[in-house]
Amino acid sequence: MGIERVIDTSIHEDDPEEKAVEFSLRPTTFDEYIGQPRLKTNLKLAIQAAKKRGDVLDHVLLFGPPGLGKTTMASVIAHEMNANFRATSGPSIEKAGDLASILTNLADGDVLFIDEIHRLRRSVEEILYSAMEDYKLDIVIGKGPAARSVRLDLPRFTLIGATTRTGSLAAPLRDRFGQSFRLEYYKNDDIQKIIERSAALLETKITPEAAQMLSTRSRLTPRIANRLLKRVRDFADVNADGFIDVPTAESALKMLEIDELGLDPGDRNMLTLMIEKYNDRPVGLNTIAALTGDEASTIEDFYEPYLMQLGFIQRTPKGRIVTPAAKAFLQKTA
Ligand code: ADE
Repeated sequence: MGIERVIDTSIHEDDPEEKAVEFSLRPTTFDEYIGQPRLKTNLKLAIQAAKKRGDVLDHVLLFGPPGLGKTTMASVIAHEMNANFRATSGPSIEKAGDLASILTNLADGDVLFIDEIHRLRRSVEEILYSAMEDYKLDIVIGKGPAARSVRLDLPRFTLIGATTRTGSLAAPLRDRFGQSFRLEYYKNDDIQKIIERSAALLETKITPEAAQMLSTRSRLTPRIANRLLKRVRDFADVNADGFIDVPTAESALKMLEIDELGLDPGDRNMLTLMIEKYNDRPVGLNTIAALTGDEASTIEDFYEPYLMQLGFIQRTPKGRIVTPAAKAFLQKTA
């Protein structure tokens, strides 16, 4: 991706400050975790039941658009189970042996979190089947005619998998999760509460009205809300003695070119190009990517879900269509 976008929902792994802030703002308990009421109710019950039985929690699959708190929720679950939290990701596990070593190093009751689990290689994924089902590790020792397979006992653990796409998860893997939950976009009120909580942790003063204003521009996504808050805090530190009120927030958002629905110039450019070149005809994902110069997966995972949530883009079997609502909004704000 070329220019860094504030509304980008990926974690900027290479920015140590961002990573540190992201971690320091994370809630550690269900009580601190704002939003996702359905998920919390269901998980609290499952955790209580597992604890009462003295058992480990059944494996959990979390899915939904990036930035909604899947990793955060996984660490909260571990905390609530009084378990260790071990985190890794699909793309970072290259070989079956890497996963075998992670699994054999787990302790009884540990929570193992695999982010982007849909990106595990098939040969790695297959190791998970018996690990999840029977807490056994099947490995092959040696090569050719001398090869033999051994079955090792693993500690009882809970796997929490996270994915942006359940569709790309192989059925045998999906079926081995005892419970699976979709993370929903947050309500504006909840985003406002998250902004106020984060501002307090960052020791930044913000009025409720300014927090509300930022909440409406955060694409209903906590990660974006926290990132916007940081950028607006920078602006306020330089221009307004660090105090964020509505006029300061408004000026900062104007400078960042984030509009009243949280769209940035990249979103508006994409919608405008689709309208100009294709008008009411459906456009394929790869064509959109070629028009904007983004990766198709970036558009699909990061930008499109919120535009669909707004009702600005419709997905049809023949491609994406920009809706009349999007056209009206672009005209109004042009
Ligand atoms: N920070 C990021 N996500 C959060 C959430 N859901 N609740 C509280 N603080 C958060």
